[in-house]
Amino acid sequence: MKNIEISAKIQIFHESELNESQKNVVEAAKKATFTSYAPYSNFHVGAAVLLENGVIVTGSNQENAAYPSGICAERTTLFYANSQYPDQPVRKLAIAAQCNGNFTDEVISPCGACRQVILESEYRAKAPIEILLVAGSEIWVFNGIEGLLPLGFNYNSLHQ
Ligand code: THU
Repeated sequence: MKNIEISAKIQIFHESELNESQKNVVEAAKKATFTSYAPYSNFHVGAAVLLENGVIVTGSNQENAAYPSGICAERTTLFYANSQYPDQPVRKLAIAAQCNGNFTDEVISPCGACRQVILESEYRAKAPIEILLVAGSEIWVFNGIEGLLPLGFNYNSLHQ
């Protein structure tokens, strides 16, 4: 019998400690929460990605009266970025949320489906995507999706 332990490194910064490009992508994610369409959950999520060419693409959750037809902010953003800029690797992804008119103090951790989509973007980017999760004035930073989705199923899993 063997044991394998999985651990994740999370760096927690105060927003004032972020570098310029981190600040820009975090601000863009916060701003994107205002474009959310969330009349059912009232939970307004914004996401922003920084591409290799310096462009920041944003998106938000888009809900639907037929609940499962809605989609999260992260997937809205990544699918749009990959559609508009198929040759531009994603380098950073920031996620923020508002509830009852306030930015959340708790970290917004992407759902399982979004983690899988982030993994695919990372595979395309051929390098870890820096993921920044906004929690009030703190920002949780992951250097790659591995910390949020260990043992992920990706292209290489299909081609062994
Ligand atoms: N949601 C996101 O957009 N991203 C997340 O990481 C978590 C959840 C959305 C989906 C739904 O519109 C609302 O938040 C409540 O689950």
